[in-house]
Amino acid sequence: MTSVDLRKKFQEFFEEKGHKVIPSASLVPKDDPTVLFTTAGMHPLVPYLLGEEHPAGKRLTSIQKSFRTDDIDEVGDETHNTFFEMLGNWSLGDYWKKEAIEWSYEFLTGKKWLGLDKARIAVSVFGGDDDVDRDLESVEIWKSLGIPEKRIAYLGKKDNWWGPPGLTGPCGPDTEMFYWTGVEGAPPQFDPADKKWVEIWNDVFMQFEKTIDGQFVPLKKKNVDTGMGMERMTAVLEGKESIYDTELFLPLIDKARSLGSKQDQKAERIIADHLRASVFLIADGITPSNKDRGYVLRRLMRRAITYGKKIGINDPFTTLLYRNLVEIYGAHYPELKHADKILEELNKEETKFRETLSKGLKLLEKKDKLSGKEAFDLFQSYGFPFELIKELGKEVNENEFQDEFKKHQELSRTASAGQFKGGLTSQSGKVVRLHTATHLMNAALRKVLGEHVFQKGSNINEERTRFDFTHDKKMTEEEKKKVQDFVNDIITRDLPVKKETMPLEDARKLGAIGVFGEKYPDTVSVYTIYDPSSNEIISREFCGGPHVERTGIIGNFKILKEEAVSAGVRRIKAAVE
Ligand code: ALA
Repeated sequence: MTSVDLRKKFQEFFEEKGHKVIPSASLVPKDDPTVLFTTAGMHPLVPYLLGEEHPAGKRLTSIQKSFRTDDIDEVGDETHNTFFEMLGNWSLGDYWKKEAIEWSYEFLTGKKWLGLDKARIAVSVFGGDDDVDRDLESVEIWKSLGIPEKRIAYLGKKDNWWGPPGLTGPCGPDTEMFYWTGVEGAPPQFDPADKKWVEIWNDVFMQFEKTIDGQFVPLKKKNVDTGMGMERMTAVLEGKESIYDTELFLPLIDKARSLGSKQDQKAERIIADHLRASVFLIADGITPSNKDRGYVLRRLMRRAITYGKKIGINDPFTTLLYRNLVEIYGAHYPELKHADKILEELNKEETKFRETLSKGLKLLEKKDKLSGKEAFDLFQSYGFPFELIKELGKEVNENEFQDEFKKHQELSRTASAGQFKGGLTSQSGKVVRLHTATHLMNAALRKVLGEHVFQKGSNINEERTRFDFTHDKKMTEEEKKKVQDFVNDIITRDLPVKKETMPLEDARKLGAIGVFGEKYPDTVSVYTIYDPSSNEIISREFCGGPHVERTGIIGNFKILKEEAVSAGVRRIKAAVE
């Protein structure tokens, strides 16, 4: 069975069980100032897991693009990667453990579905601790399905608790499913430490919200959140030892090998993983830079190119792998087909980096021994990976390098502390006020500059809102003043902010605007800011919220900065006091 079958069957199965298919959200979390990337299928659903009504209903399923950098240094072994797809199903205050577990088991083992051998399945459940009891309910359900006691492991929070993805937010105990990948039959006793037992699916029972002071507060509505990694499951279904041996990676690996002159499995895997991730990130609007997401993208690309050099790829090659990616993923992710933009970004970054890389290599040629500081400078200025310095046969002081690295990390942590403060779901008054102010600013920009203005992205934290929009000229002082005055006028008029849920078509008919290029589900929530005395609509946008109820409480709005982001895209930073 291939990943294509897995995709199809998963959706079909959960549609049969009454779930609505929702499209993958962007890898850039929308309106979530506390994390850089979408890290799991549940991530775009956080407001709904905390109790807000989802426009598509209480049973949802998706295949979500996700990206994690936690394991970046392990990429290249059998199982680690950065970009991945997560198959998931959700109950928002609807079904609970019995259905969730029974359906997982049915999908895994049912002949019509994945048809995995029941004798090779084991599970783990939350074993209980001071905060929360052992999950005996799940144990009973597993036993009723025929899972023997010996195949059930009872583990603690480290293993069988999931979330929140930030500092605060929805979380709960989970039960994980494992598949025995050994050639010989599965042993009767499940040993989670044995690597031949591969984790394939996670059912999380989200019944708590972790608060900023570390308490677990029960949620009013209990949710189910599940996640199955596409790459890993495909490897299991195809009997492959590594995710890199599946059709999701092989064409990329073959391409890298054909371009190089030396075979090196780890390097080929790193190239495949990093360029795959880079293309998906660029397709979602991220461009290489020295900050935040752009910096992560830059690191991925530079690492891939450096490893390319290591296997003897001396000419630019990143754009060559793009075609293979479109073949694998184009049908599922139309954003990958914006070839011009993606190829341009790959090309630009590769050209720039190749120059510095040659300089870095030249510097290295002259030395057999490097201090940690020198190695760190190479890494810092050229993106030259530490391990590569070692792999080139140079002697280098690793402790010193790590010390430099830590120093740097602390600095950047302080720099981005604002961004992470408060955790994933912190909706402090200030953030909510800035959120509504951002809608007003969007409306004002369209009024002052014209209707070609569309939101390209936004990011809000306690200090400011950052808003990217389509417009190809620097704004004049007068235009900025007009926008600011417009927003402050609506604030002074203290107008109501109304939320409605409606079919996408109706919302479009009403003239609701959204984020440029974003796909929306069939049913959407719409926020309208209007004047009840004249029925004048000031702003109407697709948005998950939250917002203030009346504009009067926003405070004084001020534009701090207006600048270019890329060709045709401008950025405003603004604050409220
Ligand atoms: N959110 C859970 C995970 O990522 C399902 O494993």
